[in-house]
Amino acid sequence: MRTPLVAGNWKMNGSLAENESLLTALLDGLDRVGKAEIAVCVPYVYIPQVAQMLKGSRVAWGAQDVAKEEQGAFTGEVSASMLRDFQCTYAIVGHSERRSLYGESDELVALKFAAAIEKGLVPILCVGELLEERERGTTEAVVERQLKAVVEHCGIDSFAAAVIAYEPVWAIGTGKTATPRQAQDVHAFIRGWLAEQSETVASEIRILYGGSVKAANAAELFVQDDIDGGLIGGASLNAEEFLKICEAAG
Ligand code: PGA
Repeated sequence: MRTPLVAGNWKMNGSLAENESLLTALLDGLDRVGKAEIAVCVPYVYIPQVAQMLKGSRVAWGAQDVAKEEQGAFTGEVSASMLRDFQCTYAIVGHSERRSLYGESDELVALKFAAAIEKGLVPILCVGELLEERERGTTEAVVERQLKAVVEHCGIDSFAAAVIAYEPVWAIGTGKTATPRQAQDVHAFIRGWLAEQSETVASEIRILYGGSVKAANAAELFVQDDIDGGLIGGASLNAEEFLKICEAAG
């Protein structure tokens, strides 16, 4: 049995004051949430604040990226061990915004995934196709290429300590969610592709859906066989909305 996971991706949002009220409201509402695991992936600078507020609660925390290097002359980068110093559980890697706005290649994403695994951080590996790629019928080929780069570099067994998030790029922040059927089809493809290499990894790994998930559509997505929770952007900035999504997963 896979325990569902709902992870918030705050992106470049928040302030000390806003984070405090968001997390206070989130912690206050947790009684309503069933068995789902919950996490928030926040901007680097707020990790100490979030760690302090969430310590001892059932909400885990993490970063939205991680350096491929361990330490040294890499201006602006933050390493996996630094994140572990602040008890981060997760690091998102290969988010489509990093791939498209900052030019991260499949190879770089694989190195970041490896750096996270090496230090005991759980990578949330994002994969997903652009609208043109879906229209051209290449969704599965794109997702396979993104996964393959990581499997070839890190080995299939490393996925035992990882989470995958399928995020169709055309659904991110656009209000256009994939239909439950469209999402389930890709999730089943991902699980099937992993199963060719390891049945155990495929049956145990959590595959989250991301892209305009909100309280109103979460339940119909999470009820799909191969959808094990969500990676939530915009809706994770509102405690009530995020709690409802967590309830739908639990
Ligand atoms: P969204 O973002 O929920 O705002 O569409 C999801 C994500 O980018 O992780």
